[in-house]
Amino acid sequence: MAKKLWGTRFAKKTHVLTDKFTSSIVFDQRLAKFDILGSMAHVKMLGKQKIIPQKESQQIIKGLSSILKNVVSGKFKFDPSAEDIHSNIQELLTKKIGEAAEKLHTARSRNDQIALDIRMYLKSEIDDLTEFTTQLQKAILKFATSNFKVIIPGYTHLQIAQCVLLAHHLLAYIEGLERDKQRLLDAKKRIDAMPLGSCAFSGTGLNIDRDFVKKELGFATLTANSIDSVSDRDFIIEVLAGLSILSVHLSRIAEDLILWSTKEFNFIDIDFSFCTGSSIMPHKKNPDILELIRGSVGKIQGDLSSVLILMKGLPSSYNRDLQLDKPPLFDAIDTIKDILEIFTTLFGSIVIEKEAIASKVLDESLFSVDLVEYLIKKGVSYRKAHDIVGSMVRDCLDKGINISILSLSQLKKYSPYFNLEVKKILNAWASVNLKQSFGSTNPGLVKKQMVAWSRRLAKNCRR
Ligand code: ARG
Repeated sequence: MAKKLWGTRFAKKTHVLTDKFTSSIVFDQRLAKFDILGSMAHVKMLGKQKIIPQKESQQIIKGLSSILKNVVSGKFKFDPSAEDIHSNIQELLTKKIGEAAEKLHTARSRNDQIALDIRMYLKSEIDDLTEFTTQLQKAILKFATSNFKVIIPGYTHLQIAQCVLLAHHLLAYIEGLERDKQRLLDAKKRIDAMPLGSCAFSGTGLNIDRDFVKKELGFATLTANSIDSVSDRDFIIEVLAGLSILSVHLSRIAEDLILWSTKEFNFIDIDFSFCTGSSIMPHKKNPDILELIRGSVGKIQGDLSSVLILMKGLPSSYNRDLQLDKPPLFDAIDTIKDILEIFTTLFGSIVIEKEAIASKVLDESLFSVDLVEYLIKKGVSYRKAHDIVGSMVRDCLDKGINISILSLSQLKKYSPYFNLEVKKILNAWASVNLKQSFGSTNPGLVKKQMVAWSRRLAKNCRR
């Protein structure tokens, strides 16, 4: 059994159930690297400030860096009986270098130590998450570029509506993902404050140099109130809120792809490598991966709720409840990273069913707004034009005919402004070409957006 950092004051040993219930080593071991780096900066400062002898400071740093090497290479064996990652490393250091190790925790508490560890961990995770998101955006952009000439029927209320470029639809995903990235980067600004030196919650009487530790660890600022530093986890809530919104976006992309891969839509084919079969129906090829992505939103929203409820009404300063912020945080980060990675690869394997899509955009009801705008350009009021096209569409549907087969005299019955040239706009390309507003599905404008995204994403990328 690992030695307790606070055991001496205790008249008797803690119950085995207490040990099991309070231990966080199973999950906080992932903070090991940051815990050690934080300790190294702290102890360097203690030496510089002559709070502990320089020699011992160096001895501790040497011991910590050899533990760090093992952690980074995956050789480190965590002690399952340790209370948490802090005590695990402290005990190991003591075993390694002896008495000097006992000075490491000078002017520090696990309360400010854990606040530091999570902030360091999150800064690094946000870099990964934004990088993964950029990779997905790039995969979507590549897919859009190679299918630039594909026009799909767009839907509102899941009812066929108007023609759009597939690329335009895909760029909508990229826009949303960009805002998700910016939300995380914005949260990172508030995470980038160094809490160490707040100690248990009131600071310390020892002559520490917090600014030095801040610089050593590459933080932008210092937390300015020791009670707030150990007390608040609003930055975790911010990250989880950002991840929740991101997961909503990812679930909607998944849903589009699920719909598009059905026989009824038949827009795309999802590669076998991202599908599963049925144990009873031999013909099935199910988009389970996409369904699990869609379903994961529930888990991530749950993680956010879990931390929000954990924090509600907690008395100020440190409370052990705060230990429970980590499992939901880690779960959300792991899940989102998995989804981003899967999506990035999956997008590279989607096959477009070009012929099936082309047959769908023959439906001339897709061009009703173009007909309305045709009349508006001739001077007809919007309301009147809507009525004229409405009655044309109704009559054609009743008779089961296309608008394009109407003769000139039949067209004129609806409006004297119609002439035969109107038939030229009753096709998918004409429809998208007619759009001209900024942000619309006009191919020239969409192309410009794609070029802009390609530049922007190349700059965003670390790889
Ligand atoms: N494991 C705790 C956490 O995650 C940190 C330890 C603080 N414990 C204490 N008794 N002060 O928040």
